Amino acid sequence: MGFKVAVVGATGNVGREMLDILAERRFPADEVVALASQRSIGTEVSFGDKTLKCKVLDHYDFTDVDICLMSAGSAVSKQWSPRIAAAGAVVIDNSSCWRTDPDVPLIVPEVNADAVAGFRKKGIIANPNCSTAQLVVALKPLHDKAKIKRVVVATYQSVSGAGKEAMDELFAQTKAVFTVDEIANKKFPKRIAFNVIPQIDTFMEDGTTREEWKMLVETKKILDPKIRLSATCVRVPVFIGHSEAVNVEFERPITADEARDILRNAPGCLVIDKHEPGGYVTPYECAGEDATYISRIREDGTVENGLSMWVVSDNLRKGAALNAIQIAEVLINRKLIQAKRKAA
Ligand SMILES: NC(=O)c1ccc[n+]([C@@H]2O[C@H](COP(=O)([O-])OP(=O)(O)OC[C@H]3O[C@@H](n4cnc5c(N)ncnc54)[C@H](OP(=O)(O)O)[C@@H]3O)[C@@H](O)[C@H]2O)c1
Repeated sequence: MGFKVAVVGATGNVGREMLDILAERRFPADEVVALASQRSIGTEVSFGDKTLKCKVLDHYDFTDVDICLMSAGSAVSKQWSPRIAAAGAVVIDNSSCWRTDPDVPLIVPEVNADAVAGFRKKGIIANPNCSTAQLVVALKPLHDKAKIKRVVVATYQSVSGAGKEAMDELFAQTKAVFTVDEIANKKFPKRIAFNVIPQIDTFMEDGTTREEWKMLVETKKILDPKIRLSATCVRVPVFIGHSEAVNVEFERPITADEARDILRNAPGCLVIDKHEPGGYVTPYECAGEDATYISRIREDGTVENGLSMWVVSDNLRKGAALNAIQIAEVLINRKLIQAKRKAA
């Protein structure tokens, strides 16, 4: 028998993508249940060629669930993940709630799959922030070759990273511009249509935003605590796909050609880097794809051993749903979990 999988937040951007990816990858599940809030009771969501009716998280009994893919925000995860883990399911959580907990592994399978074994302490595994996930996929193979000292990254993050209401807000505001209607800001602090906003998440005492801080602490936890990183995170009026302009300073020399060759052979990476108009990947093209695309790889002569590059990926897939499902696949392939019903 296969596994029983619960998707919490199944009506959301990430939850719907999780259901698609479970079906696409023929995940070894006998049963998949879709859970959301009271608001969504009975709402139908697609799972491959089937339709699932959403059940309410508050009333759900997790006793026979093997894997819970959690994607309903930090407050819900804080309350529910320990309870679900206590019922014997492994929780793979997409929120920021557990990422810095030393007893919870923070995993990007292409980078630190071995750390997954630490899940037994709390029964919870954390998925990183969407911007961190694609960044570390591109950095890891270069770090192995030339050891990264410092990273400076500017992000161009799509509105889907802020949930389904944020996508609706970009759509409604764009329409309102053309119909000369009033423009309402709810999810974003300023208008997002035909604009860019240099703030994602709240401000911290030193003037950085929490999103920028997450990129720093998560990169250190996943890749190497010695790496120094400075991020500027910006929301842009793109529906799906995060882009990053990345500048890296290495300890040892590395040429752009070497970096291109290394990244061409690295798991999860696809290099599209032609020095001609359009010879790079944009977020529009990466939507619906699994890879982290790397373009515009070039040497930066203003620092010793410097490289610059452009990194793009689908934030709902590698940045969230796909990464979570790849973590579940690592657990299964390494036989770290067994289906309860089989074991009984
Ligand atoms: N979007 C990304 O690129 C991305 C990347 C990495 C991590 N994440 C994280 O993933 C999580 C979900 O993001 P999202 O973009 O999918 O958000 P979203 O589109 O706003 O969806 C939120 C989901 O959570 C459910 N939910 C909310 N309150 C609930 C409750 N009390 N009980 C049960 N379910 C509840 C919602 O159900 P209802 O429809 O019933 O309200 C909905 O299914 C967040 O923690 C986010 O930070 C997102």
